[in-house]
Amino acid sequence: MIDAIAIQTCSLADPKLAQHEAQALSQLHQLPLANSLKTPPKITLGWHRNTKDSSPKLALFQTNSGAVFIDFVTGKKAHRRHYGGGKNQPLVRAMGKIENRLPYVVDATAGMGGDSFVLASLGCHVLMLERSMAVSALLKDALLRGEAFLKTENSDSELHDIFARLQVIHTDSTHFLHHQTINHAHPIEVVYMDPMYPEKKKKAATKKEMKVLQTLVGPDQDSQHLLQAALQAARYRVVVKRPKNAPIIQLDNPKLVPTTQIFSPNTRYDIYVIKALHASGYLPLISNTRL
Ligand SMILES: C[S@@+](CC[C@H](N)C(=O)[O-])C[C@H]1O[C@@H](n2cnc3c(N)ncnc32)[C@H](O)[C@@H]1O
Repeated sequence: MIDAIAIQTCSLADPKLAQHEAQALSQLHQLPLANSLKTPPKITLGWHRNTKDSSPKLALFQTNSGAVFIDFVTGKKAHRRHYGGGKNQPLVRAMGKIENRLPYVVDATAGMGGDSFVLASLGCHVLMLERSMAVSALLKDALLRGEAFLKTENSDSELHDIFARLQVIHTDSTHFLHHQTINHAHPIEVVYMDPMYPEKKKKAATKKEMKVLQTLVGPDQDSQHLLQAALQAARYRVVVKRPKNAPIIQLDNPKLVPTTQIFSPNTRYDIYVIKALHASGYLPLISNTRL
């Protein structure tokens, strides 16, 4: 994992306040101030303010691209909530249903929270796990800003319910899933994974969000360990999002392959149904935590 973050001094009119805020962030995240480093860092973390909107947003800044922050209330994520294809979209179908309701999901690779937010908008309870300190800080900031928005008159009850279904933890998911204990209120029914896939050299039009993630965390080289842990922890299924033509994640047991797949124009969802894997004998029952 690349560790090239430092605290950006905020672009506030009052330089003293800016310095004070930057120092507070620096202490909170135990990161040096960008202007104290000899070599400029590739990515910095700081507060982004625009003129239209008074609430500052925690953001990542990369040279030659604008601020990257998460906004669950307005912008693209809100647009997708209203017009994004509803329960018929492949991501949601991939989660399956349990006795006619949507499952409790652990998003083991939360990233910028886009997929988690879609799932929560449509009714899933989602626990977002993210191992990058900076990215998980962005998620926490977005949830806090969302909760503040809920107290305003512009909020609505639907948004309230969505935020009630979302939680975030800064952790390595492989470790988390290996050490999870049964939570009867929120069992781990489905584990969802969307690991970083090596970027195609030719692909110029990568979104700003993805570019920052690529610089910050790079490709995820340990997805097979995460998948193994997910298969042991999930009660019903594990769903892995892959680029359409990417190979499946290779496991030690080559016979342990997806039970089924769902395709969308650029993406494939590899679905591992736990019951079917047990029935075929390819997934040994090694603990009693699931039953
Ligand atoms: C491709 S991004 C996920 C994008 C996300 N689905 C979205 O909609 O924004 C992958 C993210 O998973 C995180 N990640 C990868 N392996 C992880 C692990 N074992 N534990 C926690 N986070 C992990 C990476 O740090 C990265 O932020």
